[in-house]
Amino acid sequence: MTDELLVYGSYGYTGALVAQTAVDEGLSPVLAGRTAEKVERQATDLGLDHRVFSLQHPEVVERQVGEFSAVLNCAGPFSKTARPLYSACLNAGTDYLDITGEIDVLEAIAGRDREAEASDVTLLPAVGFDVVPTDCLAAYLHTELESATHLALAIDGLGTFSPGTAKSIVEGLSTPGAVRQDGQIRSVPAAWKTRRLDFGQGPKPAVTIPWGDVSSAFYTTGIPDIETYATVPEYAATVMRKTRPIAPLVGSTPVQSALKAAIDALVSGPTAEERAQSVSRVWGEVEDDEGNRFAARLRTPDTYDLTAQTAVESARRVVAGEVGSGFQTPASAFGPDYVLEFDGVEREDASEFSEVGMSVEE
Ligand SMILES: NC(=O)c1ccc[n+]([C@@H]2O[C@H](COP(=O)([O-])OP(=O)(O)OC[C@H]3O[C@@H](n4cnc5c(N)ncnc54)[C@H](OP(=O)(O)O)[C@@H]3O)[C@@H](O)[C@H]2O)c1
Repeated sequence: MTDELLVYGSYGYTGALVAQTAVDEGLSPVLAGRTAEKVERQATDLGLDHRVFSLQHPEVVERQVGEFSAVLNCAGPFSKTARPLYSACLNAGTDYLDITGEIDVLEAIAGRDREAEASDVTLLPAVGFDVVPTDCLAAYLHTELESATHLALAIDGLGTFSPGTAKSIVEGLSTPGAVRQDGQIRSVPAAWKTRRLDFGQGPKPAVTIPWGDVSSAFYTTGIPDIETYATVPEYAATVMRKTRPIAPLVGSTPVQSALKAAIDALVSGPTAEERAQSVSRVWGEVEDDEGNRFAARLRTPDTYDLTAQTAVESARRVVAGEVGSGFQTPASAFGPDYVLEFDGVEREDASEFSEVGMSVEE
């Protein structure tokens, strides 16, 4: 499949898992990134071709991506990398995928839907853990309760973070939380609501976080009210609430640079052994205006391992021409059961537990 798929940011923590998974699956993507030494070493180790280019000059990016049927962008934070790559892809007629979970990035890509349709280009962001499992669960819940007007999704067990995830979180510290109400994305304070949710092991507290589904689940399901939650230790929820007043300070360039330098020095991401032992759980519930509810849960392997699997398989299908043009979400492209095709993913209905989903507004 040489010259069909370009993996950009292939030597970052997650990009390296994606590149290795692609090779394990019998694919031969071309590897790319902005740092010659890193991409050359990786390409030599894996026996793959490579390209070296930064995202600073649009004409260079367009020329590079134009040689491929699809680009899978693993370079984050995507607030910096997505736009140069998907804009170049739209101009060059190349399909675009990434592993973002950033709401603003997803909204910006959704805004290019018509242009992508007109150019016969597929734009399929968020093909990692954020948002494949939650997006598929949202689509499944919607098929079970088509009259749903409210959707809540939650994650338990995000585990240890990679450097890039930690940097995306640091960028997010200065921005408020987000929910969707009446179809519009609305800023809310960090850890705005707390719910006790049953992921299959008894109720646990979870707080609102700005997960990518606040954007994507709306395009998948059309449900106008969406909240996303994650379980966090009580001390972390308290920190999220107490740091609300200093958010602008945390967002200043010197503080962001210092935090990101500390991440480069201190964070290396989970080891293969840690990933092998890690499990994540996803919970979701829909409700309609009559008070009808339906809930279900997923159990998944480690978030990074699943990201590598879903990203590679999604890119393979896009290159094979199995996905229509325009903006797509994982579930709009592949259906609600897509996530069940990956080893270690299980789904069960949980309507009998939905009464523990009590909402306590802070
Ligand atoms: N959707 C999901 O579930 C999911 C899962 C895992 C990770 N992620 C996201 O994926 C991203 C990468 O995570 P990671 O852990 O792999 O990070 P990482 O180890 O820090 O690697 C980041 C990669 O991005 C490249 N990069 C960063 N900024 C760039 C820029 N402005 N121009 C070109 N290349 C740039 C880096 O290249 P250099 O080394 O040359 O700077 C490196 O290859 C993060 O945003 C993370 O949140 C999402």
